[in-house]
Amino acid sequence: MSITTQAEMTGMKRISEIVGITLKKMRDHARPGMSTKELDDFGGNILNSFGAKSAPRLTYGFPGWTCISVNNEIAHGIPSQNKILREGDMVNIDVSAELDGFWSDNGGSFVLGNDVYEHQRLVDTSKRILYNAITQIKGGVKIADIGRLIETQAKKAGYKVIKNLTGHGVGRSLHEEPHEIACYYDRLNLKRFRKNSVVAIETFISTRSTTAVEQSDGWTFLGQHGGFTAQHEHTIVVTDDQPIILTAANKIWD
Ligand code: CO
Ligand code: CO
Repeated sequence: MSITTQAEMTGMKRISEIVGITLKKMRDHARPGMSTKELDDFGGNILNSFGAKSAPRLTYGFPGWTCISVNNEIAHGIPSQNKILREGDMVNIDVSAELDGFWSDNGGSFVLGNDVYEHQRLVDTSKRILYNAITQIKGGVKIADIGRLIETQAKKAGYKVIKNLTGHGVGRSLHEEPHEIACYYDRLNLKRFRKNSVVAIETFISTRSTTAVEQSDGWTFLGQHGGFTAQHEHTIVVTDDQPIILTAANKIWD
């Protein structure tokens, strides 16, 4: 969406704060021994307490309130009673929700407890790249150039990027124009970021894979060559200067 009134800005700030708070509280609540279903229900109750509705459930009939992807899962992991979190897991929680017709999207990977499997560098790299990408976005900047920045910085750190999962416009629905804010230089994408538009910027930084493949459950994405992928995502408003990070409540790069 493009923000044209103060009421629209207020609506976007409110739902963005809600998804940011929900993500932060879920991350703080996660413990080894807990099922991803228990963690998801905790998050679903927070959304509900604000009167907000789960966006993936509302839009796509996703079987959960939030997406929780563990270890080799890249995205859209289905919360399950049988999936028990363990010390050192890399966990990705993606919270998107709707309130009063406004939609926002916020996600992040983190290491649960002690970094037994040495995922922290991948997580930190993804966070840093998201921050670097966001600070380069303003009205008129080519979307493909931000993709190039993400890919270049990933490569410099010894990682790859997932090419078929992308950031996107957001605001009046979960996924809007521009539909593809990719993590690589897509020379066919001639679009530019527009002032006052609301977009969700997402990194998908991976150790091995470049393509996410949907599994037979119809949701979960794994990499075509395995390995691990970290994702971080913020919903922002594009301006003439630094973007306004609407979902900064969780301060994912602290
Ligand atoms: Co998301
Ligand atoms: Co998104």
